[in-house]
Amino acid sequence: MNRTYIRDIKENGPVKVQGFIENLRDGKSMAFLVVKDITGKIQVTVEKEKLPQVAEAVSQLTPDSVVTIIGEAVFTEFVKLGGVEIIPSEIIIESVSDALPIERREIPATKKKKAVERSSIDQRIDYRWIDLRTEENQLIFKVQSCMTDAMRRFLTERNFIEIHTPKLIGAASESGSDVFEVKYFDRNAYLAQSPQFYKQMAMAAGFERIFETGPVFRAEKSYTNRHTTEFTGFDLEFSYITSFYDVMKMEEELLTYMLKEVNEKYGEEIKALYGLELIVPTTPFPIMTLAELYSELEKEFGYTIPEEEKGDLTTEAEKLSYELVKKKFNHEFLFVTDFGAEKRAFYHMRKDGVPQGYDLIWRGVEITTGAQREHRYDILKAQAEEKGLAEDVKFYLDFFKYGCPPHGGFGLGVDRMTMLMLGIGIKEVMFLFRGPNRLTP
Ligand code: 4AD
Ligand code: MG
Repeated sequence: MNRTYIRDIKENGPVKVQGFIENLRDGKSMAFLVVKDITGKIQVTVEKEKLPQVAEAVSQLTPDSVVTIIGEAVFTEFVKLGGVEIIPSEIIIESVSDALPIERREIPATKKKKAVERSSIDQRIDYRWIDLRTEENQLIFKVQSCMTDAMRRFLTERNFIEIHTPKLIGAASESGSDVFEVKYFDRNAYLAQSPQFYKQMAMAAGFERIFETGPVFRAEKSYTNRHTTEFTGFDLEFSYITSFYDVMKMEEELLTYMLKEVNEKYGEEIKALYGLELIVPTTPFPIMTLAELYSELEKEFGYTIPEEEKGDLTTEAEKLSYELVKKKFNHEFLFVTDFGAEKRAFYHMRKDGVPQGYDLIWRGVEITTGAQREHRYDILKAQAEEKGLAEDVKFYLDFFKYGCPPHGGFGLGVDRMTMLMLGIGIKEVMFLFRGPNRLTP
């Protein structure tokens, strides 16, 4: 007999269902199980006297054990859970679970029992595989999978080629400061802080349009709800742009397309399980220069910072910008442009000294940095020298010596995007979080 997914049970008849025991009530004459698979939950109702063998199996079960249930699906208005139950003829115990070491949910107090507190996220990460069995947690990854699938489709339909660049590299990239060093036979290697250099190599190789989704490593001792030492980046790069506005346009179209798909597929579930409305944005997204933003934040919220700090966006300003864009543009996204050259990477093209790039802020958190890149060898070399990087990036500078089209692109944090979509922190949203104090499981 073939296995049926719980969601696909639509009528009375024989079924074979497999999953975890989500709930177990073994009474005197009746036993009720709730079995959960990746698609849903269903009640299994056992009349113990009629089915001594099944009753015997039930008596050995514990919550989170894995079972195969063979029986009849019966639709009846008396069952709250989906209006259907399974009357089993056989229960096969695939694996018995020990008592669980974590509480995935808070259990409110009853007359007989005290309330049970939910385990902290750090305790739950220790047993992440158990924590991930809940429908809320599984939704995170269904949503994320839908997200990257939609983005991949959007890009391949527009002639982007998906590439996979090395994460082990011979020289510290980008800035050199927040890079992990690893032993590499009799020398040192570094873990890539971004696919930046190789995305651009693809431009010099004449690929014209590429994207990559892969791991990004940052040796930063940050303990916030949006920083991790290893995350998934969604990066793209494309040639023959006329300015970084082309890059912003590509990004807003990509995100709108993706959010529409996620909303159609999972909007209802996100609302039900996370209480958040997914809003498909309108285009174009609002744009402000950094100076305009600071001036508006001062006007609206009395927010001020010293003049010399205004070349970069502070975390607080990022947060406040959400209030501002909601009010001013009825929007959740904001492109911020015209950062100070000293705060931006050396490879950003500059015009009159102003980096030709942007950050995209969603719901008050940076999700992307993008730019037009400097593709002219001499200028790029001078900009690298100015940041004291010319030696480290010599191999990269060579990419621009033998012809290279004008180009630009951006890097989007997949984990950031997911956490903002669901209104939770980065530890909650990652399959396995990595931080300064966390390398296991
Ligand atoms: O802003 P970042 O550092 O930009 C780059 O890596 C450039 N090479 C991108 C480009 O094409 N110009 O990183 C890109 C995005 C951020 O906007 C953020 O969403 C995410 O990656 N990110 C992090 N996510 C989680 N933890 C961290 N420590 C992150 N650092 C950056
Ligand atoms: Mg950035």
